[in-house]
Amino acid sequence: MEPSFSKHFFTSSLIVLLFTTCSIFCSISAARDLAPKTNTEFIKTSCGATTYPKLCLASLSSQASVIQTSPKLIACAALNVTLSSAKSTSTMMLRLSHGHGMKPREVAAMRDCVELLSDSVDELQRSISKMVNFRSSGFELMISDVQTWVSAALTDEGTCSDGFAGNGLNGNLKTVVRGRIVNIAQLTSNALALINRYASVHS
Ligand SMILES: *[C@@H]1O[C@H](CO)[C@@H](O)[C@H](O)[C@H]1NC(C)=O
Repeated sequence: MEPSFSKHFFTSSLIVLLFTTCSIFCSISAARDLAPKTNTEFIKTSCGATTYPKLCLASLSSQASVIQTSPKLIACAALNVTLSSAKSTSTMMLRLSHGHGMKPREVAAMRDCVELLSDSVDELQRSISKMVNFRSSGFELMISDVQTWVSAALTDEGTCSDGFAGNGLNGNLKTVVRGRIVNIAQLTSNALALINRYASVHS
């Protein structure tokens, strides 16, 4: 009687132990599978509130693990993507504007644009550092500064792109430059929408 009881007890304890172990491991791995999916869903939902959701998704989905489900981090990531795009276009245009074989009108449009893009880069950079370094007090003031600077960047990009709309410019140059500027302006508009979203969930 005694040995049989303890044998049973031992067996059932073992079963319970195995079950518990399994369920712990299973729920850990389920949580692991769930996390990236939630992060990706968050980016999809947030991008849905922007004017160019496809571009938003394409530019941010690789950063799902960094962004997680934070409205602040997605706004910062969108600003970072916009900044690096504006920087590389600015560099490309500066190189092009020194090139030969351009009409004076083209060189002038190019120089104006480089100037505007450089302002835009400054405004984006300032916005990023303001958001990244923000700690706790004065949220309203911080976010309103950021909204002002990002709107100014958007205006500068629009002015640059308008400068390329006129006649008398080489068709190819116009297409390439305008295409890149329009892309930056769309990224900026998306970043601004995500900043507005962050502002509204924060307050
Ligand atoms: C954006 O860039 C800043 C400055 O380089 C960096 O500190 C921050 O972590 C970046 N944020 C995201 C979400 O990528």
